[in-house]
Amino acid sequence: MAQQVQGVIAPGKNEAVRVETILVPDPGPGEAVVKIQACGVCHTDLHYKQGGINDDFPFLLGHEAAGVVESVGDGVTDVAPGDFVVLNWRAVCGQCRACLRGRPWYCFDTHNAKQKMTLLDGTELSPALGIGAFAEKTLVAAGQCTKVDPEVSPAVAGLLGCGVMAGIGAAINTGQVGRGDSVAVIGCGGVGDAAIAGARLAGAAKIIAVDIDDRKLETAKKMGATHTVNSRADDPVEAIRALTGGNGADVVIEAVGRPETYKQAFYARDLAGTVVLVGVPTPEMQLELPLLDVFGRGGSLKSSWYGDCLPSRDFPMLIDLHQQGRLDLGAFVTETIQLGEIEQAFARMHDGDVLRSVVVF
Ligand code: APR
Ligand code: ZN
Ligand code: ZN
Repeated sequence: MAQQVQGVIAPGKNEAVRVETILVPDPGPGEAVVKIQACGVCHTDLHYKQGGINDDFPFLLGHEAAGVVESVGDGVTDVAPGDFVVLNWRAVCGQCRACLRGRPWYCFDTHNAKQKMTLLDGTELSPALGIGAFAEKTLVAAGQCTKVDPEVSPAVAGLLGCGVMAGIGAAINTGQVGRGDSVAVIGCGGVGDAAIAGARLAGAAKIIAVDIDDRKLETAKKMGATHTVNSRADDPVEAIRALTGGNGADVVIEAVGRPETYKQAFYARDLAGTVVLVGVPTPEMQLELPLLDVFGRGGSLKSSWYGDCLPSRDFPMLIDLHQQGRLDLGAFVTETIQLGEIEQAFARMHDGDVLRSVVVF
């Protein structure tokens, strides 16, 4: 029987979010109901509310979550009731061209839950990024659940569901940062800071943080930046070159999502260096580059999609490193909040005051 729980709804374009009673159906074949313990507030939730992603209102927001599996539907074998899991955006098919080529993060045929969560009047809810975890319980495909060590705090585990994984993965998976590399990260919000933490984990010798906000640069140092550049004050390309013997960085990670910062990343890479775009541009953004500079500097220009992660490989691995004290995921949790405080969390995020506000249940 469907259960009634509290969830945070974005009712319409730019309307304030509100807590509502929602109905969560019993899990059907391949589905699971997860009791949510923590869920981070991400920019993407704000974009859903603003109508920046699509217009399938009302949305059930929240997608950076961890919790305990309550029940599973027919045919589910990978997870069982009682398992502590981190949720991911999409259950991949394992059979399409992308999956078969070992790049399931580009899966063409993802299977999220088939049933819908609804309002009490039957109105169907669109779950943010296929999850909808600003709710006491949510319905997902079982393939969206990755079991991790239950000893870790849910607020920390949930971070891996989106922004922190995107940043760490941009460094270790997409950028393939290696021991001794020089790495520059442009934009030091939650995603850029996670890229810095990832670069440190991978053994980078120099990690240059670039931002226009000195407060962000201070936090970046705590995450592992060895040098900082305020790009309001100094030309970041010149500064990165100066800090790398005139060469440029082996890997430059762009974590803003704007043409001008991408251009900086492009010119700040060493010969044969790698540029990783993890910041998400808007549809109208364009960038013109001299083709000769693409050719002449060599290397590669990549984009990173969800940190090019394999949840079943990367989530438990990063939690192990956190538990061992080699990666401080706790540093990304600025504050824990209640379900009714998401509008305030959006405001603080907009003002740049927090890395992550995390709703705990
Ligand atoms: N140069 C350098 N840094 C900049 C610039 C700029 N021109 N403009 C903004 N920034 C900095 C901000 O000061 C902030 O520290 O970029 C950072 C962006 O951080 P957040 O707004 O907290 O965003 P975050 O959650 O880190 O995501 C960054 O990655 O996944 C994507 O959609 C996400 O596009 C977004 C990007
Ligand atoms: Zn697939
Ligand atoms: Zn997110």
